[in-house]
Formats: sequence, structure tokens, C-alpha cells
Amino acid sequence: MHKFLLRLTFTLGALFASGTFASNLKSQTPTKPAAGTWAIAVHGGAGSGEWEHMPDAKEAAYHAALDRALKAGAAVLERDGASMDAVEAALHVMEDDPLFNAGRGAVFNEHGENEMDASIMDGKTLGAGAVAGVHFTKNPISLARSVMEKTPHVMLVGQGADEYSKRAGLPQEPVAYFWTAQRWKELGEVLEKSGRPMPPLPPGVTQAMTAVDPNEVSPRHQYGTTGVVVRDRKGNVAAGTSTGGMQGKMRGRVGDSPIIGAGTYASNASCAVSGTGVGEYFIRLNLARGICDAVQYRGMTVQAAADEMLHTTLPSLKGGEGGVIVLSPNEAPVWSFNTVGMFRARMVEGGTEEIAIRH
Ligand code: GLY
Repeated sequence: MHKFLLRLTFTLGALFASGTFASNLKSQTPTKPAAGTWAIAVHGGAGSGEWEHMPDAKEAAYHAALDRALKAGAAVLERDGASMDAVEAALHVMEDDPLFNAGRGAVFNEHGENEMDASIMDGKTLGAGAVAGVHFTKNPISLARSVMEKTPHVMLVGQGADEYSKRAGLPQEPVAYFWTAQRWKELGEVLEKSGRPMPPLPPGVTQAMTAVDPNEVSPRHQYGTTGVVVRDRKGNVAAGTSTGGMQGKMRGRVGDSPIIGAGTYASNASCAVSGTGVGEYFIRLNLARGICDAVQYRGMTVQAAADEMLHTTLPSLKGGEGGVIVLSPNEAPVWSFNTVGMFRARMVEGGTEEIAIRH
């Protein structure tokens, strides 16, 4: 017995020292914030593979971009802004940055087209808006919000969503604006692997624009996504998610990001969640809502609920990979993921900013 205890102590000590224990949990539990304080978390997608070997310069670029997104949301909250406005502000930064798979820099379907998805949810009213398969809207999260606030519907897709976006006066961009050489190269790799032909370059994109540094190691965004969860000073939570979807997807494929309850959910009665991962699994598990149900009906903390979903329920489906950011009206933001890394950042009013990429 004595020997066993000694071995256990040694093993736990070694695991902590090596970081293995922490990385198996893939999350940390921050302290409970004071009432009336704002909080925010952002993510820029999760992944494995080449994440192990990301060059320092690339990692620094993602770090800076996450910092900009977090600060954009925090600035809204600091001037007593509403959680929905902070979600939109933080997501605009990532949608505008070609580093992320959302807006500019979105991945392509197998025909070489960008089809973008987004959703937003207000935890105070349970109001929600979503768009799927949109082509020209510079900031799809704003289109989702417009659907929520200015139409009788929750979700618009494809041509109808594109038409509504123009009518609503939202900024539009040509196909070439969203196109990036890095994502095009990744599309080629995905299509080649599955024996599918490479589509022609889209209008406005020339062969000269396709040149990429052959030595550049960039994290693939096969199912990368961007997302934000926020609590404002009034205690209202909100969540938003925006993505280009999965690289090389079929035309018309819709993932979890615009599906309320799957990739996005927010309720002041439970929590706010934004996910990133293989959407087909998140949809089947109703993943975001599942986490909030565990908080509301089983009395779990947001961390315990997220960890159960990401480390037990999701991987119980073969291929179930991804991550989430979660907060509640009275708990600090947490994250949980079962991939090698997740681009993520969080902050609670009065606290320090935390930005992380791998475990
Ligand atoms: N989670 C992004 C997607 O599956 O589309």
C-alpha cells in the first residue's frame, strides 16, 4: 500500500511537471468573478497535425490577432456596452483577418467557392439569427444579427440570404476579397487526397496570386471556425460563431456554426457556448445546448459540463473532434478541446488577458 501511494505520488508529480496532466484536461478552471463584471472569450478554431510544428512567427501572428479580437470585444464591454455588441465587434476582427477561417480567409467548397455560415444568440431574450452558404457579405455575423433583429425569421440560406444582405445595406465584397492563396493551396491538398479535380481559379483571381512560400507551415483550417462568448455588466450572456465551414466540402453543405444549439447557444438561465470542430458531430449531439442543459438541469459548472461533452461524449463518436468556449452569468469563461490546439483568449474585467494556442 505504502509503495502504491509512493508510486501514485511520483506519477502525479511527474505528470504535473511534464504538463501531461494539464494537457489531458485541456482546460484550466479560473476563479469565480465578482458580480457585475464583464467577461469575454474568443476562439479562432481548433486543430491537430501541423499545429505541433507551427513556426514561432506564425504563432505570434495568431497571438496578436486573438489579442486584437479580445480587445475589440472588451472595449465595448468597458464602456458598458451590451454582450451582443461585444460579440459582433470581436467577430468582425477575426472575419476581417485572413488568418482565420471566417469571412476573408474562409475555406472553399469543392468547386472553389466560399460559402460562409454564421449565427448569433442573445441569452437575455433567446433571440437568435443565422445565415448559411452566403457568398458576398463582408461580415456574416452582422448578417446573422440583422436576420434576428430585422426579419421574422431565425435563419436564411444561400441566394435568399445574399439578396437580403444587399437589401439590408450590409457591406458586400467580390469573390476575390475572400480568396487567399494559403486556403487555396490547402484545398488542393484536400482534393488531391480524395481524388477530386482542382476547380478553376475564381473570377478576379490570377495565377500570380496563388504563389505561397513552399516552406511556410500554417495551421490548416480544415474545420476551423471563429467564435465569441460574452457576459456584460448587466449579467446578460451572448454567443456568436462565424466560419467558412470545412475545406473541400460539398456545395450546399452546412455545418454546426449556424445551427442554434449545435455550434452556438446562449441563455441567461444557463450559459453561452461557441464551438469549433467537425460540424457533423456537433449537430448530431446538439453540442452547445447539451453543455448548457448540463449546467441548467444537472447543476454542473461550465467547466465540468464542457469537459464532459468534449472529452467523453464527443469522442465517443469516432471522429468527434473540436473545442468550445463557455461562460455563464456568474462564472468566468472556460474552454475545453480534444484536439492538439485551439486558438483562444479570455479575460474577466479587472483580470489579466490570457491567450493560448496549444495545451
Ligand atoms: N465547425 C465548423 C463546421 O463544421 O462547419
